[in-house]
Amino acid sequence: MNSPKKENSPAALTSLLSRVDASRTLNISALSRQEPARSEQFCVDAAGLYCDFSRSLCSADDLRALLGYADSIGLAAKRDAMLHGAKINSTEHRAVLHTALRQPPGQSILVDGADVMPDVHQTLNRIAALSDRVRNGQWLGAGGQRITDVVNIGIGGSYLGPELACDALQGFGQAAVRVHFLSSLDPSAWQQISQRLDANRTLAIVASKSWKTLETALGALAVRDWLLAQGIAHQSLRKHLVAVSTNIAAATEFGIDEANVFPIWDWVGGRYSLWSAIGLPVMLQIGSVQFRTMLAGAHAMDQHFARAPLHRNAPVLHALISWWQNLVTGSRSEAILPYSYGLRRLPAYLQQLSMESNGKSVDLQGQPLATASAPVTWGEPGTEAQHSFFQLLHQGSDAIPVEFILPLPQRDATHNSDLALVANCLAQADALMRGRSADEVRASLQQQGLSAEAVRQRTPHMVYPGNRPSSLILMNHLDPATFGALVALYEHRTAALGMLWNINSFDQWGVEVGKQRATSIQPLIENPDESVLQGLDAANQALFKRIRAGLQARQ
Ligand code: F6P
Repeated sequence: MNSPKKENSPAALTSLLSRVDASRTLNISALSRQEPARSEQFCVDAAGLYCDFSRSLCSADDLRALLGYADSIGLAAKRDAMLHGAKINSTEHRAVLHTALRQPPGQSILVDGADVMPDVHQTLNRIAALSDRVRNGQWLGAGGQRITDVVNIGIGGSYLGPELACDALQGFGQAAVRVHFLSSLDPSAWQQISQRLDANRTLAIVASKSWKTLETALGALAVRDWLLAQGIAHQSLRKHLVAVSTNIAAATEFGIDEANVFPIWDWVGGRYSLWSAIGLPVMLQIGSVQFRTMLAGAHAMDQHFARAPLHRNAPVLHALISWWQNLVTGSRSEAILPYSYGLRRLPAYLQQLSMESNGKSVDLQGQPLATASAPVTWGEPGTEAQHSFFQLLHQGSDAIPVEFILPLPQRDATHNSDLALVANCLAQADALMRGRSADEVRASLQQQGLSAEAVRQRTPHMVYPGNRPSSLILMNHLDPATFGALVALYEHRTAALGMLWNINSFDQWGVEVGKQRATSIQPLIENPDESVLQGLDAANQALFKRIRAGLQARQ
């Protein structure tokens, strides 16, 4: 299937952008009074998630204009092209089909004329078989003992999604193994993790789509050396090492039994790969049944994305509102604030998803973008973040759009900490929106009995400007289905934003140069010969000498 040819029209964009200045004068609280239909227009239920975009600097007319722009660029056709296997990753000439990974059996999806679905289900069944055997104790280590610990060696998309899911879904599926993640090049990472492990009871997964990633290659060598040093015989390594990769030959050459190498395909982007065999550590933790429930939750969001009209489509509204909030506030960042211990790594996961996908400066035709692309994504879980950077969100110079993610927590009948968590999240959204006027501050200080002078001095420091936009994603429970739907929502928001910007959200050329430079810099650190530094400028020569001296002093 070919990419849809409809291109984003500069005139339609200019017309849309002409609304931005007027939106800057909007008042969110006033909008909520003046627009009684706001809750129907800006709130939508999708796959178990309630998405509330009503606290946005966006009027009903703006939303209509945004939806008109989405229509004008053929967003629905672009979405359909993605879902049906068009090669929309044009620089790598690849389809983008992570949605196929959560598609139930019974429907074909063709890439280059071949149906990808049989391989998808065969691989899912293979990892389920492995996971079941490990979890029920049939898979034994070299010494005949059952596996208690799993180490995932991977980075980026081969790490962040599985780690997020393992955290979020603790407690689902009977606990059978502990999962550890090795992603860092810093040798102390593996040193610390390995101290907690017994080699005879450890299964390591080398997770690398490309099998070319330095961090993962060195991590895999460290783990293999450790297994051997701990007394696992070479011929028994296959009981302790499995792999996920497109490069089956390289994985088997590394010493992994071909039966235990699970494929992933070039039409799955690394940061969209949680649903593939890259999710194996998650399956080992929660079991294959719960893993399939997670896939079903994501699939429910896929169906919503594919079928709901654009004005009721949660990922599309999410993308439109996110884009608009950054344009109207002029902010170049967005804060992700999960009010959930389980989702504490969501900001890190979304950093890769959003910034690696949409951190681009040229469009699909290679032309400079008319508007800024991905903002900086950052965040921390609430309520902890309230005690660190919320000061800036409320009173800092910039209005930064905020996303609250609120799964209703489990009951705490003793101290009501669950209710306090929910109340804090709602209170922050409300305070950002309504702020606190000088009159309110004065009245409150006077009531406390402060002198007129103290009231005058303190008032400006205690005013909250308010009118700061936020969105809220609410779910009744954080469980495998709603978790799957939440991640799929963000995946589709990311894709839809890329369509609005007319960029390729599925390549990542910007990460290559640094990798290449590291390869040429390492010899300059290793080689003690002064002459190799001659080509460098004076500041770099000084820096390299300093580092060399520091490295030598360690021995
Ligand atoms: O360097 C960026 C990147 O290519 C990501 O896109 C990817 O998720 C990560 O590295 C890991 O890649 P791989 O799974 O091929 O080791």
